[in-house]
Amino acid sequence: MRAPIRLGIPAILSFLLFTLELCSAQSSSATSITVYYVPGQTPLGTAAGTASAATPTSFDQSLQAYNASTLVAPAPPGASALPTSFALPIPTGVPVGASIKQNGSFFGFSIEMSVVNQVLGKNSTVLQVPFLNLMSNLQQRVGRINIRVGGNTQETATLVANTTDGRILEKDLAGVTNPTDTPPLIYTPDLIYMLGNISTLVNVRWYLGVPFNDTSNFRLQIIEQGQAILGDHLIAVQAGNEPDLYGSHGHRALNYSQQDYFNEFGLLINAINADPLITSRDILIGPSVSTNWSPESVFDTGYIDAYTNSLAYLSVEHYPSDNCGVAFPSSGLPVHDPQQLLSSYLSHSSATSLAGAYIDSTNIAQQKGKQFLMFETNTASCGGFVGLSDAFTAALWGLDYGMQMAATNFSGALFHVGGQSVSYNPFTPPPTNESVFHAWTVGPIYYSALVMAEALGPSNASQVIDLQANGNNSFSPAYGIWENGNLVRALLINFANDPSGASDLQVDLSMTGGQMPSQVDVKYLLANNVTQKGNYTWAGQTFGGNFQSDGRPIGTENITSVPCNTGTQGACTIHVPAPGAALVFLSGSGAAQDTAGAPSQTFSTSTVTKAHNTVTIDAASLATSNGGRHDQLGSTSAGSAKSAAQSRRNAGIGGVVALGLEIFVGWVVAGAR
Ligand SMILES: *[C@@H]1O[C@H](CO)[C@@H](O)[C@H](O)[C@H]1NC(C)=O
Ligand SMILES: *[C@@H]1O[C@H](CO)[C@@H](O)[C@H](O)[C@H]1NC(C)=O
Ligand SMILES: *[C@@H]1O[C@H](CO)[C@@H](O)[C@H](O)[C@H]1NC(C)=O
Ligand SMILES: *[C@@H]1O[C@H](CO)[C@@H](O)[C@H](O)[C@H]1NC(C)=O
Ligand SMILES: *[C@@H]1O[C@H](CO)[C@@H](O)[C@H](O)[C@H]1NC(C)=O
Ligand SMILES: *[C@@H]1O[C@H](CO)[C@@H](O)[C@H](O)[C@H]1NC(C)=O
Ligand SMILES: *[C@@H]1O[C@H](CO)[C@@H](O)[C@H](O)[C@H]1NC(C)=O
Ligand SMILES: *[C@@H]1O[C@H](CO)[C@@H](O)[C@H](O)[C@H]1NC(C)=O
Ligand SMILES: *[C@@H]1O[C@H](CO)[C@@H](O)[C@H](O)[C@H]1NC(C)=O
Ligand SMILES: *[C@@H]1O[C@H](CO)[C@@H](O)[C@H](O)[C@H]1NC(C)=O
Ligand SMILES: *[C@@H]1O[C@H](CO)[C@@H](O)[C@H](O)[C@H]1NC(C)=O
Ligand SMILES: *[C@@H]1O[C@H](CO)[C@@H](O)[C@H](O)[C@H]1NC(C)=O
Repeated sequence: MRAPIRLGIPAILSFLLFTLELCSAQSSSATSITVYYVPGQTPLGTAAGTASAATPTSFDQSLQAYNASTLVAPAPPGASALPTSFALPIPTGVPVGASIKQNGSFFGFSIEMSVVNQVLGKNSTVLQVPFLNLMSNLQQRVGRINIRVGGNTQETATLVANTTDGRILEKDLAGVTNPTDTPPLIYTPDLIYMLGNISTLVNVRWYLGVPFNDTSNFRLQIIEQGQAILGDHLIAVQAGNEPDLYGSHGHRALNYSQQDYFNEFGLLINAINADPLITSRDILIGPSVSTNWSPESVFDTGYIDAYTNSLAYLSVEHYPSDNCGVAFPSSGLPVHDPQQLLSSYLSHSSATSLAGAYIDSTNIAQQKGKQFLMFETNTASCGGFVGLSDAFTAALWGLDYGMQMAATNFSGALFHVGGQSVSYNPFTPPPTNESVFHAWTVGPIYYSALVMAEALGPSNASQVIDLQANGNNSFSPAYGIWENGNLVRALLINFANDPSGASDLQVDLSMTGGQMPSQVDVKYLLANNVTQKGNYTWAGQTFGGNFQSDGRPIGTENITSVPCNTGTQGACTIHVPAPGAALVFLSGSGAAQDTAGAPSQTFSTSTVTKAHNTVTIDAASLATSNGGRHDQLGSTSAGSAKSAAQSRRNAGIGGVVALGLEIFVGWVVAGAR
């Protein structure tokens, strides 16, 4: 093992300097402002709080990601609006209208390029271990995670050999006089090496974005280097981030049209074809429109057919609402009151209207043999809503929305990750540079990802349908999931908020054309109420509250066995608390463990304060480890043998040996030795 190097992340500047997407994907009247400074924060150069994470400073609490404000939950719907006992017969075989076969990695993440050095690591040799653990949890369930690095900041990013201060990413602040200016990013190849080195530890596949601000002089280095460094781990490259907003955001003439985008996409393809350093050319993602243009209006230019050999995926980006009026008061944009909106996020109609708007597009994509992606989404742009985006509401909403997109033939959905001044993060690194290790904050959307991963499973052949349960009641959506032609799981959601228990569901689940097993396994996603912040549980395990996670689940997994009546009228009565979600494993006892019960390959942090304050992972021990969710570093005594499938899914781990990579699993605890 090489000598440990002291870790100094996250860089103190980075959290002051991330970009917010302003009304990027929802409001056709929105004007463009990409904000560079955190609203309400003193700009660059000001000392920030440095207390240990156990006692968050007032500075921490002033960051939107940790704001403790809550909303008032909607009143229980009442028995007439929500019948609580209902039968749910599900066909054993795949019904007409079920989705295309979905990958388990459907639910992924989108990380704004300007915050990767906060979320992923400092550079190629200093990675954020909590991030690795969070990804490992998902890999264990579905084998792979898809992450996009990009966003507005990709458009002007430029690859340079090195930066003046040695960082992998810098904002060119010279010349930024207006706090809403987006300074161009410069980044070094080490940023891409960092992605590559993450992929040797956990099976993360990357989407990148090629700068589209200058179509007479394309900067293709991200494709060249991305392919050279990432190889198969580079999935594809986005060309044009929300081109429908280029005109109104001042990136093009106001009359910038679908035809202009079509023409520029053609110029990019010509440039790629002329670049000998680009080895694979069928790699582009587009049109990534949000709201001003429909995808069909771009398709009408002949886009798909003209560029079919270059187009790897079709894409859109969309948020259901925005918090722009609050984030940027001077913009004059309308202020949305999250309290008024809360109940709309606690309704199945949110998911059906969001995904429903694209059914025509997903059908076109299928006809053209393309996969269709939701490339960036979350609860609301401009940072989301305090009390909604960071509460249990968002976990149920994200789960329903993700499942609905799968049911309507999207092929993947990426939930956006901002920084400390947004509410909607699936996971947030701590803002202080001196912090205890258990210091990440895991948000509700990460729980959505975890549950959806288990709902789809690792087969990459899951077909999903919205069962329109309970008379298509908007409080109680349910999905069926089939694998290789057989019903395997059902997901039941209860959006009602009723701690009295009176709105808990009793669902009589049965199979039509098949036999229920004698008992089924059930896992629950739970919180006390929809406004709860943090400490949600999935099968009894949690990632805690603010500043309490190192990315590994805490607690013992709790799988509930529910007996079924056998015989022709066999049914199992599944209890779904209000609020909550239940994933029912229909292949009999042990099915839940088969799907996800094995220990995660995680990256232990238990020796963080020893010796040098930091510790490196011993690469050789990782290669032989069975997992060790709660084990000491290097232990192979996880108490559970890896299944063959598990070994396959973790196959990437072995690569670390050859690399001799050092991963830093801790950083300085103030005053601790
Ligand atoms: C953390 O930030 C403070 C204030 O900017 C600085 O004095 C301190 O040296 C930093 N600590 C580390 C470990 O970077
Ligand atoms: C927390 O959020 C609420 C609601 O948006 C806001 O009124 C309050 O000022 C925020 N608190 C802090 C400390 O920023
Ligand atoms: C999804 O695709 C499948 C297979 O083509 C089709 O049967 C189903 O109707 C589609 N769903 C929607 C909502 O269009
Ligand atoms: C789904 O998996 C297949 C096979 O592994 C792959 O070709 C495809 O690109 C994946 N789709 C997405 C959106 O990840
Ligand atoms: C990454 O950062 C650490 C700590 O600052 C430094 O020691 C190391 O050399 C850097 N690695 C690379 C590849 O620049
Ligand atoms: C595109 O962005 C790069 C990097 O910031 C900049 O140098 C260039 O001038 C821009 N081009 C146009 C046409 O805006
Ligand atoms: C960094 O770039 C400068 C020129 O911009 C060059 O002189 C220097 O050698 C470079 N350093 C390294 C380590 O590549
Ligand atoms: C990991 O990063 C180092 C640079 O620090 C690089 O030499 C190595 O090739 C990287 N590995 C991968 C798989 O990208
Ligand atoms: C769009 O606007 C630009 C400048 O404002 C102008 O030069 C161009 O002719 C216009 N294009 C069309 C098709 O009207
Ligand atoms: C919601 O649940 C949390 C966590 O148990 C609790 O602190 C909070 O008081 C509850 N809210 C209401 C309105 O009951
Ligand atoms: C979560 O639970 C822990 C331990 O019970 C508690 O310390 C913390 O305050 C809770 N966090 C929130 C956000 O409720
Ligand atoms: C396991 O979950 C069930 C259902 O929520 C609950 O009734 C039971 O008390 C839990 N058991 C433990 C040990 O937490």
